[in-house]
Amino acid sequence: MANVAIIGAQWGDEGKGKVVDLFTHEADIIVRFQGGNNAGHTLVVDGKKTVLHLVPSGALHPDKLCIIGNGVVVDPEVLIAEIEALKAQGHLVHSELLRISEQAHVIMPYHKAIDLARERLRGKGKIGTTGRGIGPAYEDKVARVGIRFVDLLEEDTFRDKLRKNIEEKNIYLKAILKEKALHFDKIHDKYVDYRDKLKDYVTNTGLLLDQEMRAGKRVLFEGAQGTLLDVDHGTYPYVTSSSTITGGACSGAGVGPQNIQQVIGISKAYTTRVGSGPFPTELNGPDGETLRREGAEFGATTGRSRRCGWFDAIGVRHAVRMNGMTGIALTKLDVLTGFKKIPICTAYRYDGNLITEFPASSKVMQKADPVYEEMDGWSEPLDNVRNFSDLPKSAQKYVRRIEKIIGTEIILVSVGPGREQTILLKNPFEE
Ligand code: GDP
Ligand code: IMO
Ligand code: MG
Repeated sequence: MANVAIIGAQWGDEGKGKVVDLFTHEADIIVRFQGGNNAGHTLVVDGKKTVLHLVPSGALHPDKLCIIGNGVVVDPEVLIAEIEALKAQGHLVHSELLRISEQAHVIMPYHKAIDLARERLRGKGKIGTTGRGIGPAYEDKVARVGIRFVDLLEEDTFRDKLRKNIEEKNIYLKAILKEKALHFDKIHDKYVDYRDKLKDYVTNTGLLLDQEMRAGKRVLFEGAQGTLLDVDHGTYPYVTSSSTITGGACSGAGVGPQNIQQVIGISKAYTTRVGSGPFPTELNGPDGETLRREGAEFGATTGRSRRCGWFDAIGVRHAVRMNGMTGIALTKLDVLTGFKKIPICTAYRYDGNLITEFPASSKVMQKADPVYEEMDGWSEPLDNVRNFSDLPKSAQKYVRRIEKIIGTEIILVSVGPGREQTILLKNPFEE
């Protein structure tokens, strides 16, 4: 019986929330290990849509333990609102069902102010961040000045760290970013209130996970963002500020690598991206518009319209290798219904040369032209299909061709946002 990691294989929004929710009945514990409320994970259960930003996507199942690991950066205001909304819907019925790592870093108002002001100053060169303060919070963690939950719980430590941070950040905000200064008292009082509301959830989650795993409990590690947004392996600098890959699950949850046996990559049957940065298979014409409309490609966090394009096998193959993916869940196949021909990008052309591995150079990535292989499309709607053999032959061929090019097995095909709109080919927990 395996523990499983669910990891985005593209630029985020691949349908991780749906797949985590779907597999939660196989697990006892669901852990978020990186990112923050830049994530927006959508779950559709019995036709009802829920979007989660911080609480793991297992929260709609009764009696599952949800953990926010040490690698997550937490905006307490957003987390409190999310907990309250879930409780009002009859979930998270007691506080033991959610645990927050004492080592998780807290997003502060200056993180958001810096994130937003920098993006404004970057103008056309902006990253297109979610504006949630994610990058500046991770910067403070690495600079060793961040405030963790354990620091927030100790009044004297918190006051001391907050005072020093505000002094320094105000100089930066005023002199460099031309923003207003922030006030200690206001922030302090607000965060004391957050502390009171969250303190019962805070614990040593690494230790808890170890104890539970030793007792035979099964864990589902829930990635946020995606491999191509990873701070090391993505399209740097157009990335997020955390380690989004499987390796990040070990440091961000506080477990050893031997505790993760299966790694399932989530990939759309095409590609999307929110924010700036290179995207070789992007479609700026009517086909892109059709994908956006049929796939309802609007951000679950910011509502921004997502850029859309054809499936990029170079990117997904890179993700398979980087994460040690043992299988892929291919989502949103239903959205491709109606296209006569469906191209798959199998290489990039740059400066007269063919490239088949994901380039590190931002310049090469920006200028790379996709080289396509064309597959036949299909016209039948797929949303009611539940068996692979009931898919139109050309849809089956499309899935099998992708499987061959990316070099790993497709273990699930998703044909709609609903939990039940799924063709499961292999259960990774039983491997
Ligand atoms: P995540 O961030 O990876 O969890 O993905 P998001 O929730 O941000 O975006 C995925 C969107 O696609 C959500 O609106 C889902 O409800 C929806 N979705 C997931 N799987 C499918 C599918 O197979 N078909 C369709 N049409 N929509 C899907
Ligand atoms: P989920 O978990 C898609 C993108 C932003 C921006 C870049 C940096 O729902 O898949 P940040 O605010 O993290 O500093 O922004 O990363 N981004 C996402 N794109 N899905 C996400 O999360 C994302 N989280 C961040 O749009 O381009
Ligand atoms: Mg999302």
